[in-house]
Amino acid sequence: MTVRHLLNIVDLSVDELALIGDLSDRSIDDLGRPLAGGGVALIFEKPSNRTRQSMEMAVVQLGGHPIYTRGEEVGLDARESVEDVIQILEGYHAMVAARVFSHGVVERMAALSTVPVINMLSDWSHPLQALADVRTMRHEFGALSGRAVAWVGDYNNVARSLGEVCVMSGMSVRFACPDGFQPSTAECDRLSQLGPGDVASTDDPAEAVAGANAIHTDTWVSMGQEEEVEKRHKIFDTYSVTDALMSLAADDAIFMHCLPAYRGYEVAASVIDGPASRVIRQGHDRMHAARGALAFLGGVR
Ligand code: CP
Ligand code: NVA
Repeated sequence: MTVRHLLNIVDLSVDELALIGDLSDRSIDDLGRPLAGGGVALIFEKPSNRTRQSMEMAVVQLGGHPIYTRGEEVGLDARESVEDVIQILEGYHAMVAARVFSHGVVERMAALSTVPVINMLSDWSHPLQALADVRTMRHEFGALSGRAVAWVGDYNNVARSLGEVCVMSGMSVRFACPDGFQPSTAECDRLSQLGPGDVASTDDPAEAVAGANAIHTDTWVSMGQEEEVEKRHKIFDTYSVTDALMSLAADDAIFMHCLPAYRGYEVAASVIDGPASRVIRQGHDRMHAARGALAFLGGVR
């Protein structure tokens, strides 16, 4: 049987995405202990709060043993090659998960690995975040088909995975990003072909947010882009999610952010700490979504 990996949301079919949603809603007892006696290696080349904690807890809840290692300690392509690392780890572990600077690293792991490889954030995508985001919105709105999501800011790793999951879930996705930081026309076409939802792109936050049900944003400066902080703060200056922007959304609209957040930059404190914000629930959903994904990769149906 071909081993399944989770590098991107598009590694899943629409039906499998729904199945992971169902698995994430099931009780821990009902899922059994699919990882009993097995380990999951968690390698982090970048800092993390939510991803590490939620993955470790999800592994424990499924009966497995997580082993966290910092990227510097493993030394991917420095101390030894990615290929040597994965071939060793697959002999110890039921699954291998990695947070990496370059998406190519998790692709090289998956190309060789006999156990599932999970992307815990790369420069390209953040699928575990998207699984949690869609869970938070499903619990807020019920059926997602026909609901509209606005993304305000940088078309980054989180935006790409969110776009994929939302189109596959039948939502309308509207990106509002400054020139040079927008999804390309080819990328919008790719996204729109993934499922029943649709995609639009603009440089105008007000246009994207008008009537939308969920407003998402993320930091203007992702991990690894720290040298661009001044340049990015200038470019993104008019892309803050403020109360004025939120007032253009649907009456019951919610605000979402993967965190960590920078108040006063991509979002006003009054929005992220206000009644429309679901960011804490969204953060908690990371653990349930991770458990659903791990159970799926562990063969639970
Ligand atoms: N949202 C997210 O991935 O958070 P961490 O970087 O803290 O894991
Ligand atoms: N886009 C951000 C997400 C952090 C969870 C980053 O890559 O740093």
